[in-house]
Amino acid sequence: MATLSEYIQRVAPSPTMAITAKAAALRREGVDVIPLSAGEPDFDTPQNIKDAGIRAIEEGFTKYTSPPSGIPELKEAVIERFRLDHRLDYGMDEVVVNNGAKHCLALASAAVLNPGDELIIPTPYWVTFTEQPKLVGGDSVVVETRPEDGLKLTPQLLKAAITPRSRMVLINSPSNPSGAVYTRDEMAALGEVVLENDLYVLGDEIYEKLIYDDAVHVSMATLNDELKARTIIVNGVSKTYAMTGWRIGYAAGPADVIGLMDKAQSQTISHPSSMSQKAAVEALTGPQESVQIMRKEYDRRRRFVIDQLNAIDGVVCDLPKGAFYAYPDVSAFFGRQGPGGQIKDSTDVCDYLLDEARVACVPGAGFGTKPHLRMSYATSMETLQEALKRVADALAKLD
Ligand SMILES: Cc1ncc(COP(=O)(O)O)c(C=O)c1O
Repeated sequence: MATLSEYIQRVAPSPTMAITAKAAALRREGVDVIPLSAGEPDFDTPQNIKDAGIRAIEEGFTKYTSPPSGIPELKEAVIERFRLDHRLDYGMDEVVVNNGAKHCLALASAAVLNPGDELIIPTPYWVTFTEQPKLVGGDSVVVETRPEDGLKLTPQLLKAAITPRSRMVLINSPSNPSGAVYTRDEMAALGEVVLENDLYVLGDEIYEKLIYDDAVHVSMATLNDELKARTIIVNGVSKTYAMTGWRIGYAAGPADVIGLMDKAQSQTISHPSSMSQKAAVEALTGPQESVQIMRKEYDRRRRFVIDQLNAIDGVVCDLPKGAFYAYPDVSAFFGRQGPGGQIKDSTDVCDYLLDEARVACVPGAGFGTKPHLRMSYATSMETLQEALKRVADALAKLD
């Protein structure tokens, strides 16, 4: 038998998808499981966006589109959003539209990394970040952040992680799973280390519109021209416009990197779906009120969920500034006795919550931190009320 790809064999499957699939299987068996494991808005795609997709189909916009990097109308809409939202100017050869932000991130790693090159990734990280570099023979270097720094990367930690093979650092602000948002000063301090060490920045900004309280979204590319030339911004319509299934993401950055992403895309998927591209034009250029309506509702749920979690004896949860996840520390339960034996870690806590409370959460181990678990609050208030009640009751039973 021929040997199979060592690169791909090193890739770990997604723990969030595994838990979501387990919860879905239990639901199919009739078990009343509340899934708080997936990172998906519960809102429907706004009607004006759906209409644009339907119109595209009815008008016969159902064939291959050109160029592979996205229809000009959509690339222009992306450029205009960067200009309006961040005062960033990009040319048509500096943006590429892909099959979702996940796809953009994979193409960015493929464009920048050679075998053995390193992508630096701070904890806690979205489960996909560490696996994508492996697809092209690259390595992920995980940097453990500290609670006293708000689980954010610091210049000292970044410096300590740099090796001769370091090529790029990933900064996901607002963060999935912690909801942490980097301030301008924090970004600027990291930017200095980036320039001193000739790194690229892979900026995952998919949650940029979902920020709360006094948080302000700052992209590394806005700090100065040198950093703009080293930053690949990844964004998309999935979270902001509740369009996960439409599969449209986009990236902006230096023309040479974007050009390679475009080439890799054209030889793999050709281009993103024609009607989804039309719908994304409407999302980016049409009325933006629905974004604020959804953001306000996430904010209301965020306060409720974090209050309820902190009211549980043993649970500690910071109020996240962005995204739609709670990331509580549940380490106080490690060592306690559950029905299936001693609870050792947050994976055991999640297993216990699935069995006892019928609530699906994702263990922190999947995101690179042991004391936590992740709970999505992108679901209705009634569902959250029931879920939090079940979680509180179940955890109170552990002694
Ligand atoms: C941080 C982060 N980046 C990217 C993505 C992927 O987004 P998309 O659905 O556009 O591929 C997700 C989805 O969960 C995410 O949490």
